[in-house]
Amino acid sequence: MCGIIGCFGRGDETLDTLVHGLAKLEYRGYDSAGVALLGDEITVCKTAGEIADLRDALRSKSLSGHLGIGHTRWSTHGPPTDANAHPHLSERGSVAVVHNGIIENYQTLRDELTAAGRTFTSDTDTEVVPHLTEQGLDEGMEPEAAFRAAIERLEGSYAIAALIEGVNAIFAARNDSPLVVGIGSDGSTDDTTTGDGDQVFFLASDVPAFREFTADVVYLEDGEFARIDGTLAVTDRDGTPVSKSIHTVEWDAEETGKSGYDHFMLKEIHEQPRALRQCLRGRVNELTASVDVPDVDDISFVHPGGGRGKFSGVQFVACGTSYHAAMYATQLFHEAGVPAQAFLASEYATSPPPVGDNLVVGVSQSGETADTLSALREASSRGGQTLALTNTVGSTMNRECDHTLLIRSGPEIGVAATKTFAGQLATLNLLSLATAERPASRRSLVPALRELPGQVQQVLDESNAEAVAEHYADARSYFFIGRGYQYPVALEGALKLKEISYEHAEGFAAGELKHGPLALVDEETPVFALVVGDGEPARKTVGNIKEVEARDGPVVAVTDGRSDAGRYADHVLSIPESHPRTAAILGNVQLQLVAYHVANRLGRSIDRPRNLAKSVTVE
Ligand code: AGP
Ligand code: GLU
Repeated sequence: MCGIIGCFGRGDETLDTLVHGLAKLEYRGYDSAGVALLGDEITVCKTAGEIADLRDALRSKSLSGHLGIGHTRWSTHGPPTDANAHPHLSERGSVAVVHNGIIENYQTLRDELTAAGRTFTSDTDTEVVPHLTEQGLDEGMEPEAAFRAAIERLEGSYAIAALIEGVNAIFAARNDSPLVVGIGSDGSTDDTTTGDGDQVFFLASDVPAFREFTADVVYLEDGEFARIDGTLAVTDRDGTPVSKSIHTVEWDAEETGKSGYDHFMLKEIHEQPRALRQCLRGRVNELTASVDVPDVDDISFVHPGGGRGKFSGVQFVACGTSYHAAMYATQLFHEAGVPAQAFLASEYATSPPPVGDNLVVGVSQSGETADTLSALREASSRGGQTLALTNTVGSTMNRECDHTLLIRSGPEIGVAATKTFAGQLATLNLLSLATAERPASRRSLVPALRELPGQVQQVLDESNAEAVAEHYADARSYFFIGRGYQYPVALEGALKLKEISYEHAEGFAAGELKHGPLALVDEETPVFALVVGDGEPARKTVGNIKEVEARDGPVVAVTDGRSDAGRYADHVLSIPESHPRTAAILGNVQLQLVAYHVANRLGRSIDRPRNLAKSVTVE
């Protein structure tokens, strides 16, 4: 999910251009990096760590060639080690591949290739690609045909670039992961064009990787193949040539890094549809209403109505946003009849409850939060089995827990958790569906999960959150209320707003407002109310809205419009109709946008709010 670079036509500058391009992609976050050059043969240098580590490694390794590929890895399969870093080579070293994304059917392919006598040297899903390509070559296929045949076998998401010995070309393919080709003039930047007519080609996950060399780009689409060999040839799956337009990017090299967004937070909010697709990919099947999460195959719960299972219940430990995800998760398990509790990790570690036969789940984007680690270690020391629900392969939680379930959101740079919260909620649904819930829940939820990425996109496209944020940007205090699945979202809405705007904000269970906080409500205290559906919870929350109205408090309803919440609200932030569980994710997107636009209007440091850190490694 991280960064790819390729370079053709820069002569002796090729290696420097690749490493420089990788450094330009650094904002995407990564854990390993590597490059391969094609000369008489393919030579590779790769390492776990940062670009600085790659530069160090390159000092003691000589790579030669005038075309090459590079990669920054954000691990999904196998920890960040030198061996797992890309590029990956085939058995004889005749094919080198870099890949962003996830190959879903890699295990089947790996088993098949292993049975055919090929030896794997990494834990990655990616390594099947060079082996498959070389197998094709060994069977007598032409290099391009062998590459295409290998890609045809893949299921999942990928942006792939490959080198094949003996062919002066870079081969590329894309499905669901971005790839863009840059076309420039030899040895020139676009503002000192002195080229002699020879063209230079770049291939990258994002334009910043090569923007200083050219502004002319060709965007590849899903299912397209590219061959760069002094010209660019793009073909579709069947090999039919595709005529591509050249676009000129408007922004200059200085503005890059956030894909055109002003802040990483906004970029990451907008990445949610893709992150959710990645999270659900291969794990839910709408046709059969089934959920397939092999990572938790040996986890099961004792059901009150009978049925043997390993665990009697589940305890969640987490902090901040992840704690809100944990609160949401308890409701999923309660619906399934499985006892569940959410603990603030710092409190769990201070005053640990009996672990009993509970599964202890640490919810953590980073997998490194000290409070959560401490709670998990405490549970472990008392004989509890632990599961890390995290975004980060190779993190301490991933390594220390008995089980890991990845949320697959891709790297998140902004300190405020956004797409990873959505990923946590989606993954927690997968966990409960796979381990605890009955088929009836699957039948209603699986279609809702499949629809979710598209609905998030709809909210992003149609949201009026910026106008609402403008309207209330001078408020004295902000309240958020919700019930059931919308209650943790109310807490999250308030946390997001206070974290990046430095304004006072509080979240409450909707029914609690009248038990105290209502005393604070006046015309300067907007209350954001999450109201989903038209059932009893929605009717009760509408009652709470009326209580606010009676005290002159402005109300913003975040609603699917099925109740009459909108009638009593001063403003409405709409979400599409969906399952109450997925509605929580949709409503949260609106609240993320409100927080972002309030903070932006107030000129706050959005990506690095004062006093906070992305990963809190102290207790
Ligand atoms: C979220 O916006 C915050 N930055 C913070 O509350 C965060 O969720 C918390 O520190 C837990 O982090 P983790 O998910 O990496 O464990
Ligand atoms: N799935 C691949 C791996 O784990 C690629 C990850 C990436 O996109 O960086 O190595």
